[in-house]
Amino acid sequence: MDIDSLRAAVAVSPDNIPLLQILAKALEDAFEINEAKNHYEKIIEIDPSQVQAHLGLIRILDLRGETSQAVVRLDVLCEKHPQCAEAWMLRARIAMDEEDAAAAGTWYAKAVALNASIADENLMKQIITAGGSISGEEAKRRKVTHDGSEVDDDDVCGGTMDDVLSRELDLEFRVKNTARFADVGGMEAVKEQIRMKIIFPLQNPALFASYGKKAGGGVLLYGPPGCGKTLMARATAGEIGANFFAIGIHHILNMYIGESENKLHQIFELARRNVPAVLFFDEMDALAADRRDMRQSAGRHLINQFLQELDGAIDNNDNILILGATNAPWHVDNAFLRPGRFDRIIFVPPPDAVAREEICRIHAQGRPLSVWDEKDLAKRTEGLSGADIKAVFDNATEVALTEAMRKGAVAPITGKMLTQSAKDVKPSTRKWFESAKNYALYSNQGGMYDEILVHLGIKK
Ligand SMILES: Nc1ncnc2c1ncn2[C@@H]1O[C@H](COP(=O)(O)OP(=O)(O)OP(=O)(O)O)[C@@H](O)[C@H]1O
Ligand SMILES: [Mg+2]
Repeated sequence: MDIDSLRAAVAVSPDNIPLLQILAKALEDAFEINEAKNHYEKIIEIDPSQVQAHLGLIRILDLRGETSQAVVRLDVLCEKHPQCAEAWMLRARIAMDEEDAAAAGTWYAKAVALNASIADENLMKQIITAGGSISGEEAKRRKVTHDGSEVDDDDVCGGTMDDVLSRELDLEFRVKNTARFADVGGMEAVKEQIRMKIIFPLQNPALFASYGKKAGGGVLLYGPPGCGKTLMARATAGEIGANFFAIGIHHILNMYIGESENKLHQIFELARRNVPAVLFFDEMDALAADRRDMRQSAGRHLINQFLQELDGAIDNNDNILILGATNAPWHVDNAFLRPGRFDRIIFVPPPDAVAREEICRIHAQGRPLSVWDEKDLAKRTEGLSGADIKAVFDNATEVALTEAMRKGAVAPITGKMLTQSAKDVKPSTRKWFESAKNYALYSNQGGMYDEILVHLGIKK
């Protein structure tokens, strides 16, 4: 309906609130603000509880430059109707016009927490660019407590500003991590490092402070595929009840020049607002490709930004554990390996016999197994990665399932099925060792890859 016919309709029924509301909004959209104002006022006169009319009137007052009046009315409205997301959003918008990014951030968070569908990415970007950040009740309520208790469900899918931001950044954010160290077989050296860097310091902050130590730091995990690097990162977050941010490097690299740096900065800022946090950078070699290899200066800028973020030059990284993972540490820029950055570089080899036994037990959980011999299976899976061992169990399960379908009754997975399956699964790490061996022999920077040589039996 056009404005003229709406006007005509209102002339016939001047007290029809829904009709008045439609006309007022249409006028507002057409910038007929004075006439719109009259109609909004009329509605409020008839029924003072009409929230939409109040909002309209406030928008118009703001448009006319009568901002202080608008703000006073908005205060009252928010107090009377604290559940009205649009009112908080309008408050954020006006605060932003007033260049109060901090307040805008608080109201924005409140608005999207009440109704995620009114999120306004442009406004959010403005707020962040202007230095605003999430604050207020929502942010506090949302944080995982240091004793490791978990956030509740509506929090996880809530619509706070950081949620919106992480969606925009294409991040896995605050994923509930049920995995624990107990779900990772072996990897004792890695677990120990992680305990010392973040778990114990979070539990005993005073003790660590007395030694001048804080929680956080960087650990780079490298090794062949399927040996539990990614699993370990998730388990770390689960273990400390921390927020977990998984960053696939392609998300950052696939950007226009300049945008990647900004994105990376936003990711670190997001983590800093949500400590304790585990920031996990997978495929580190892709991001941190040796600077000499980088022909474009764009890549160099990104690396420099990353180094600055790691150094906490921009802001501090207390209570943030930065985990990196790579299959190709030789392609990682040396600058990343200096103290204070990824200052622990840990080789994650295929599991030894004890670890394999553990991994077998982990993957046996929840499957209908008849009697089977863990030690024996550990022996038969020599050379296999954790992922390969999982495949042994998956394949044996399939055999048992086929049998169950044939018999029409549950058939357990037998030790024999597992042994056969172990014979069929080929080690997937061999190829990796072939190339790793060359790097370790001919480009072993300061003995960095000695562990690989020891693992291969080349060095004692
Ligand atoms: N140490 C382990 N304990 C238990 N399960 C494991 C272990 N290592 C690997 N697995 C199993 O293999 C799967 C794949 O492992 P994961 O993704 O962690 O390997 P990765 O080292 O990150 O490999 P890539 O280098 O290819 O990224 C895990 O989800 C898990 O099921
Ligand atoms: Mg991985």
